Amino acid sequence: MAISDQATALVQAGVPIVRLAAGEPDFDTPEVIAEAGRMAIQEGFTRYTPNAGTMELRSAIVHKLQEENGLTYKTDEILVSNGAKQCITQAVLSVCSPGDEVIIPAPYWVSYPEMARLADAKPVVVQTSLTDDFLLTPDALSAVLTEKSRLLILCSPSNPTGSVYSQQMLDAIAKIVAKHPRLLVLSDEIYEHIIYSPAKHTSFAALPGMWERTLTVNGFSKAFAMTGWRLGYLAAPKRFVTACNKVQSQLTSGASSISQKAGVAAMGLGFAGGEAVAKMVEAFQERRDFMVRRLKSLKGVKLSVPQGAFYLFPDFSAYYGSEAQGFGTILDSESLCKFFLEKAHVALVPGDAFGEPRCLRISYAASMESLKTAMDSIEQSLTLINIE
Ligand SMILES: Cc1ncc(COP(=O)(O)O)c(C=O)c1O
Repeated sequence: MAISDQATALVQAGVPIVRLAAGEPDFDTPEVIAEAGRMAIQEGFTRYTPNAGTMELRSAIVHKLQEENGLTYKTDEILVSNGAKQCITQAVLSVCSPGDEVIIPAPYWVSYPEMARLADAKPVVVQTSLTDDFLLTPDALSAVLTEKSRLLILCSPSNPTGSVYSQQMLDAIAKIVAKHPRLLVLSDEIYEHIIYSPAKHTSFAALPGMWERTLTVNGFSKAFAMTGWRLGYLAAPKRFVTACNKVQSQLTSGASSISQKAGVAAMGLGFAGGEAVAKMVEAFQERRDFMVRRLKSLKGVKLSVPQGAFYLFPDFSAYYGSEAQGFGTILDSESLCKFFLEKAHVALVPGDAFGEPRCLRISYAASMESLKTAMDSIEQSLTLINIE
């Protein structure tokens, strides 16, 4: 927030800042989806829907999960909410009791630990390393499990690292989960479609014995460029969906009727979002390739090449503790972000927000032109720091 406020102040003062901090696609919502939203308003589809979502949308989600993920659910095992964020919060609130432990591999999406705290549960952060592509190893998981372990949160493709778990790695994790009967898994699959070949998405619930133990969360924000429509969903065994449904009925009721009509149109785009989503993913991949090339050429920077989502999470810690001309000492990820903002006019997010202070998060959900400008300026500004 501090960096964002400073970026806004600079923009207001007329400084052209390239913002690579946002967690949303820079594309417009595909026209067919937007049109379905307009039609919903025109046709007066503007009243409360059932709390769990319209039958039309839940049926479309059931179909999607079967076709694309090999997962079989009934419509009463689906809960549509105002964004995946609400789905995850409700899931954590529903399954965790005070004192339960929520296992969160770091780097993590900033909200997970706070959601655990909201449920009076204890976030147990498990550090992963860049050399393991920031993926949770079975040994690291086994080492933190206790009788209080209630929920493991997995996010693949990941925000902030872009890492993707292979089926083989998930199988190894599932074997450990199977040995701990009280442990559930929340599988956050919101970046599912933004994935680069040869990486492949595997739904955790599809692994042997894991359907019963998994709460799958997905949504429309990222793949369909619908962040402002606020639409996500949970798929899980009925008892969990029923509990989440109760929480939602007192918090917000059903998601927007207009967005749900748009969601049906999104599901109608075809397998994995069809041509409309494929075009966006192609653009993201081109940007990823460009950014990887540029970052790898920077002195002292370490990088795990992301396989999905639209983030890079390079390790800039080689610059910490060094003097930057006209700036002062680069202390940590926050001060390096301030340095890039002031000297390169690029807004990034410090890694400590995601539980990994050695890194910075760069979102490449921006035009190629902006990315080129940003990388040229970053490269230039780094010449002000002597790291030997
Ligand atoms: C990993 C992850 N999960 C969930 C969400 C929430 O998405 P939404 O509430 O927009 O559906 C986000 C958004 O940034 C995210 O990055």
